[in-house]
Amino acid sequence: MNVTTANLVSIADLSNGEIEEIFALADASEKLRKEKVASGKIMATLFYEPSTRTRLSFESSMQRLGGTVISCSDMQSSSAAKGESVADTAKVVSSYADVLVVRHYWDGAVQAMAEHADVQVINAGDGGHEHPSQTLCDLYTLRKEKGELKGLNVVICGDLKNGRTIHSLVYALARFGANVVTLAANGMELPQYVLERLERDHLYTLAPVARDDLSAVVTESDALYLSPKRPHQLALFTEVDSTIQTRLTNMVSGLRYDALYMTRKQKERMKNVAAEGNYPTVGAKFLKQKRFEDTLVMHPLPRVDELSPEVDKDRRGIYFKQAAYGVPIRMALLHFLFEKQRQKKMIKSGKGAAMFASPHPVGPHCPNVKCVTINEPGSTRLRFELLSGGPAGALILRCFYCDNRFKVQFVGQTTSKKYCAYDITLADTVKSWVKKGELAIFDSIKQAEELRYEPYKSGPQRAIMDEAEIHSAISQMTEQILQDCDDNDRLLILGIKTNGSLIAQRIAAQLEQLQKRNVEVGEVEVYGTGDEIRRIVREDPDLGPIQLRDRSIVLVDDVIHTGRTVKNALNTVFRSGRPRSVRLAVLIDRGHREVPVKPNYVGKHIPSAEHERVRVQLREAEADAKENVVIYSIISPSEG
Ligand code: CP
Repeated sequence: MNVTTANLVSIADLSNGEIEEIFALADASEKLRKEKVASGKIMATLFYEPSTRTRLSFESSMQRLGGTVISCSDMQSSSAAKGESVADTAKVVSSYADVLVVRHYWDGAVQAMAEHADVQVINAGDGGHEHPSQTLCDLYTLRKEKGELKGLNVVICGDLKNGRTIHSLVYALARFGANVVTLAANGMELPQYVLERLERDHLYTLAPVARDDLSAVVTESDALYLSPKRPHQLALFTEVDSTIQTRLTNMVSGLRYDALYMTRKQKERMKNVAAEGNYPTVGAKFLKQKRFEDTLVMHPLPRVDELSPEVDKDRRGIYFKQAAYGVPIRMALLHFLFEKQRQKKMIKSGKGAAMFASPHPVGPHCPNVKCVTINEPGSTRLRFELLSGGPAGALILRCFYCDNRFKVQFVGQTTSKKYCAYDITLADTVKSWVKKGELAIFDSIKQAEELRYEPYKSGPQRAIMDEAEIHSAISQMTEQILQDCDDNDRLLILGIKTNGSLIAQRIAAQLEQLQKRNVEVGEVEVYGTGDEIRRIVREDPDLGPIQLRDRSIVLVDDVIHTGRTVKNALNTVFRSGRPRSVRLAVLIDRGHREVPVKPNYVGKHIPSAEHERVRVQLREAEADAKENVVIYSIISPSEG
């Protein structure tokens, strides 16, 4: 693997200062052209997916800089069609060119190729992950038109889940201090991992905002406001407080929108395009509104039918100019990267955090089925960034290739060959294992035991609720929910996966019995890779995704402790739609809150110490297990 190459894989590879440097070079692109700064260099374009703008503007840029271009007209006519790996292709083409410009359909594929190439590599779009050179064009356009990026209010609209241009763009806008309003098509909201990166790396937070002013012109979408200043923490409230809502409405109604960035539906990344429902559109109505008279309309293109040709003739429709900037920006980028390489200066990678690689041939897997590590493991070295402080003190792994995050289930110590389920009480122990290089992570008990690890002991278990008490607590919560519910048509019972959704199903079943009518029930996955909110019980594909707008939601979990899991679930809910209210039901409240959430319905209060664990065992989750709630201490692995 070449570790001394100046590549551009993620927008995080460039600092703000370097981006400004590239803009300055783009302003002087005619000079670069005259000086033929890339004379004698060869660029190879390897596009595994179609492209007009990115490919041709890179090729045009290289030729204008005096360099030459080699290419496969279609990667299906290359040896990729015979099954050649991305690793081998990168290695081989490195002998023919000085820089590889790669577009691939797998998330993280360009990172994998960069690890095997002997020359510089530029990401021209990897799956639904990132498209950093498009972001340079977008920022350059905004800066040219609006002067500076800081403080701009940018609306991003459409398929925010699969749009790679969007992901790179929101990170960059956050870094330059712009505010972002998201208007996602239903079911196509920004992925959780993007929001977490915004929150963790850029201190951004999100809140739902009134959509009325935008919905007049952009249909079929709900708005979220992402801001660096944390002026509102709506997601921390279990009732949508009307004062906060009014404040938000006023704040956003007064917003000046500097740009609306429209994107097409990324059909190529969807399993069932027909079931995806309506999609927002921008057209003549938008142009007529006085409040948008200075709002630029941007689009990375190609467009399909989400952006009307009527906007083409309007001064605000600047997407063709944005595409034209592709040449000066990519000329500047190529020259910048060649210079960095010549001076043997690595560009600063944003991925400098502590890494975990399994000490065994098997270990945790990225849960993203579109990740290169899943589709071509032979071309990757499976490794993850270790992040602590997820919900309920969870230990989180971030895939180095595709950025997706997931919760660590089981940890082990390589020297003692013992394993246990990860728990917040193990945080310090795990830190010491990381330091000594003794940490192993497993997806399952089966994986740990196949590697001949044995379980650590826990302290004696004490039953605190039996089956009858669990049943009675759920019935009591159901009755309270029924009493409080003033509109049954809006009611949605939403369980936090896994035990929370099992309890939610029991509550919904009891409500159905009492009311003699159907109750909608769904589940929310706090650490998912995409479809974090799913309908459960009724498997009717025609029903489409669950609608959250204006619903009266009861969010259900088995145990509440720090409140972080609930906060994350609330973030996911508010990101996916604007409910009328969210109330919280938990079977057990342990106390020790870090986040100010207060459950509305509690089965039993069980104050417990930090080092203790409370485990709810439900029949549906653990076949043959006795249904009960137990409390026990973790015997520290160092003592066990
Ligand atoms: N904006 C963009 O990436 O366009 P192409 O798919 O045509 O390269």
